[in-house]
Amino acid sequence: MRRLPLIESRSAIVEPPVARPAGFAERGIPSLTDRRGRVYRYLRLSVTDRCDLACVYCMPPGGEEDHGLRRELLTFEEAARLIAVFAAGGVERVRFTGGEPLVRKDVVELVERVHRRAPHLRLAMTSNGTRLPELAAPLRAAGLGSVNVSLDALDPDCFAALTRGGDVHRVLAGIEAALAVGMEVKLNAVPLEDGPGTAERLGALVDWAWSRAITPRFIELMPLGEGAALADRRLDAAAVRAMLGDRLSAGEPEAPGGPLGPARYVSGRGGRVGFITAISDEFCASCNRVRVTARGDVRACLADRRALSLRDVMRTGGSDADLAWAMHRALGGKSEGHAFLDPDVVEHEHVGMSLIGG
Ligand code: 5AD
Ligand code: SF4
Repeated sequence: MRRLPLIESRSAIVEPPVARPAGFAERGIPSLTDRRGRVYRYLRLSVTDRCDLACVYCMPPGGEEDHGLRRELLTFEEAARLIAVFAAGGVERVRFTGGEPLVRKDVVELVERVHRRAPHLRLAMTSNGTRLPELAAPLRAAGLGSVNVSLDALDPDCFAALTRGGDVHRVLAGIEAALAVGMEVKLNAVPLEDGPGTAERLGALVDWAWSRAITPRFIELMPLGEGAALADRRLDAAAVRAMLGDRLSAGEPEAPGGPLGPARYVSGRGGRVGFITAISDEFCASCNRVRVTARGDVRACLADRRALSLRDVMRTGGSDADLAWAMHRALGGKSEGHAFLDPDVVEHEHVGMSLIGG
């Protein structure tokens, strides 16, 4: 493999590839574990950093400027290849994210390609839902089993304000379309304090989701990129539970971790509600996910700027074993807890979820 220089991009410090030691992957791709024994079974792959909305906690007004040039993005062939190597290393579930994954041209073809290459993988997507009215059926046919739709408000004006211009009716139609073709649907909301109507807004979301047999999940605002400036409006899980009042039972939430990911679920009168408490109750010790950006950088943690470029391994003629070694190195260095509350990280991490992959 040719050696590439250390690159500092806006989104990460990309470490140069290190030659694979003799003997690594001699008898097949080893399973992806780190030095603390965490096994990686869940891959989140961003397919674009673009989005057709600009949520206040995610995108600057007008969108991120650092859009990848087309040749910088992983091709579908490259993405399908690295997913196959991750699958050989033990990954069982893949989630396509963005930005908004459905703004990447022909993304249905990518889902189809991955499904054909590794039919046992469970394929999911996180989407803002605006393009689901047209794409839910083709995505389902291509092998996508579930979709998590981001929705912070049902009220059209409130939704438009939070997404800087989005049309909530498209999203609701998108959710109905996904349900109609048999996809599993979850709702993701980032709860923000916005005055006296906040509790009603969050309560209405929960009631609407339950009326469709959908589980809503509240994701605590993370101080990344645009989110950093809104930290004083963050509502943590306890505040949201208080706002939801007697919709929820008083019991302890289920323990997080395991195959279900970091959400803790609380049962209630019409269903369950999930809480993803990255800030108020760190769940890093059981984290089983690995992230790959749209440009093919593997990042062990959202709050870690170090990354390794899998794309460069592939474009410099690396073998599948070389790819596996780069994955192994990236994950081996994963730290035990996150650094979101470390002022140094918050200050230097000017990059939002849309660039890293939410
Ligand atoms: N904090 C928490 N969640 C965020 N998302 C985007 N930015 C942030 C942030 N700063 C979430 C969106 C969406 C997913 C892609 O990431 O709500 O559900
Ligand atoms: Fe787009 Fe999702 Fe970011 Fe909102 S949270 S701007 S929908 S990528």
